Amino acid sequence: MGGIALAASSLAAQAADPFPQAPEHDLVVRVCSGCHVPEMVTAKRHTAEEWDDIIAKMVDHGAQATDAQQEQILAYLVRFYGKPAGS
Ligand code: HEC
Repeated sequence: MGGIALAASSLAAQAADPFPQAPEHDLVVRVCSGCHVPEMVTAKRHTAEEWDDIIAKMVDHGAQATDAQQEQILAYLVRFYGKPAGS
């Protein structure tokens, strides 16, 4: 009984958090899943330049992150959801 409930809740937690583990993980989850589902972030790959623009746009929308945190988020997104420029 307890085991099933535990399994179900850890599955739900995984479904709600598609982001790979990394030092910046908690920051990205906190800053980038407040307004929309995280899948909004993970759906498409972008170049570093595109991610930089997207993060700036999200900050305009009201995302709460310092400049240093935005740098960390950018590094994370480029690492896991980047694509080479020009493709
Ligand atoms: C204050 C609310 C808010 C927060 C926080 C937020 N977003 Fe968004 N996001 C939006 C809104 C509103 C849209 C849809 C309108 C648009 O595209 O600008 C959106 C759309 C998007 C899109 C799809 C549209 C596109 O331009 O490709 C991506 C990708 C995205 N957000 C990524 C992020 C990332 C990464 C973060 C964390 C740095 C983040 N969002 C945090 C409000 C937010």
